[in-house]
Amino acid sequence: MITNELKIELFDKAKTMLNFSYAPYSHFHVGAALLTKDGKIYTGCNIENAAYGPSNCAERTAFFKAVSEGILKFDAIMVVGGPNGKIKDYCPPCGVCRQVMMEFCNPDEFKIFLAKSKDDIVEYTLKELLPLGFGNADLNK
Ligand code: THU
Repeated sequence: MITNELKIELFDKAKTMLNFSYAPYSHFHVGAALLTKDGKIYTGCNIENAAYGPSNCAERTAFFKAVSEGILKFDAIMVVGGPNGKIKDYCPPCGVCRQVMMEFCNPDEFKIFLAKSKDDIVEYTLKELLPLGFGNADLNK
């Protein structure tokens, strides 16, 4: 059970990450806060590149930070973003990030929180945002 207090903590941490977003090309800043099953929070921001392709989204930055430290179990992620770091609307994860979530998370249980403010947070399961997702179990069918 993720309390409202914890959602607000995730929101605050994701919003703080907008300050570290490296987005000189799109000027679209994104921040993420990833909640591990043991209650730790890993943060991430988007990191762009002059060659465009190597750019990394905020969500994947948070996942890769955690996985690179041996953490593989997650409960939820908060994502916020907007032009020049101003949050105007929800910032849904791109398809590549949804697929990375599919690698490490149970799609029926993993929660994706999107927020316009601490008082306007919406919640989806990974399955809702990636129906019929392909995962490691499919390789053994
Ligand atoms: N971006 C993210 O970091 N996460 C999302 O959920 C959507 C898009 C980044 C990628 C790129 O740096 C910028 O936002 C514009 O697409």
